[in-house]
Amino acid sequence: MTDFDTVTSRKNTASLKWDKYRDQDILPFWVADMDFKLAEPIQKAVEERVSHGVFGYTVAPDGLSDAIIAHLQNEYQWQVDPSWIVWLPGVVTGLAISCRAFCNDGDEIMVNPPIYHHFYDSHEVDRHEVVRVPLCRKEDRWTYDFAAMEAAFTDKTKLMMMCSPHNPTGTVFTSDELQSLAALCKKNNVIMISDEIHCDLVIDKSAKHYPTAAACPDMADNIVTLMSGSKTWNIAGLNCSFAIIKNAALRDQFRAASQSIVPIVPPLAYVATQAAYQEAGPWRAELLEYLAANYAYLQTELGAVPGLKVESIQATYLAWIDATELGLDDTQGFFEEHGVGLSSGEQFGQPNYIRLNFACPRETLVKGVERMKAAVSTLA
Ligand SMILES: Cc1ncc(COP(=O)(O)O)c(C=O)c1O
Repeated sequence: MTDFDTVTSRKNTASLKWDKYRDQDILPFWVADMDFKLAEPIQKAVEERVSHGVFGYTVAPDGLSDAIIAHLQNEYQWQVDPSWIVWLPGVVTGLAISCRAFCNDGDEIMVNPPIYHHFYDSHEVDRHEVVRVPLCRKEDRWTYDFAAMEAAFTDKTKLMMMCSPHNPTGTVFTSDELQSLAALCKKNNVIMISDEIHCDLVIDKSAKHYPTAAACPDMADNIVTLMSGSKTWNIAGLNCSFAIIKNAALRDQFRAASQSIVPIVPPLAYVATQAAYQEAGPWRAELLEYLAANYAYLQTELGAVPGLKVESIQATYLAWIDATELGLDDTQGFFEEHGVGLSSGEQFGQPNYIRLNFACPRETLVKGVERMKAAVSTLA
């Protein structure tokens, strides 16, 4: 059994998450990385590579594509050819390169708030327009508003950037939803950029992730899928991601747009990613159990706090909390003053919400929740 309970201090490690509050008594639950140590096989593989001592320019090691392809086949019944894979140092890089590759001056990119903030800012500001068509809430989950999207497409719309499973709402889209989306994009001649970085983090056992390109074979030639082991295996600081692009012409455009801008993937990142996909499946299974239990705890404890509504999520380790009823102008700032560092919903396009990253030992989470309860009690 993996020990997710032991607290590993990340102070003085130049951690983005923890250093934000360096000399303050504020527990960080914001940026999306986890406070857990690496799975043993990944740690071992990285240590072995470090002991070699030479770190020149590197290409993807033999067996890495095969490990990813096997994972996609086993988990999602998606058959991917190795030639479709383009290595990237980050998924956000993939979003930005897609805008450069597939949009001309004045073209429009559709995004659906609330959404991970880089969806708003990965385009070229002087050249492209971002068109925002909000998601809607149906039967206790967030989904696409197909009618509003249909009305918003113009002949300038070239890209639709989607996040599946969804950050920050935690929705796992059904195959029907993805097919409706693909049909809409096909009809309007729009390329879909499907960011699936959270696909291996489905915590609701009744939900299943469908890669957009696998669920929508008719549209597969116009889909760029972006993936990484970075969230699932907590190796975001190492920088290995990949695009999967079936259509050779799109792939060439994507590669051409990357030229001279995108650095190659670092050697330790490749090694860690290979060990993750090849050997750290059992670790992931245990992680999902732990995350689901943390989320259940949050729902019970924070769900009972007047003014906070912990919405149902199906995937990710990011709780999406409606704090409208607290009636505060700056909810994130309020909790920060009470020792809890959250992400502001405003960043994702939904003021009055807060996002809480619960990928930490239970002990840390309990401390944060107790501080949040105490904070809200001061409002009474
Ligand atoms: C939807 C989504 N895409 C991309 C990223 C970041 O990807 P990367 O660090 O590989 O650029 C995140 C991180 O939180 C995310 O939630």
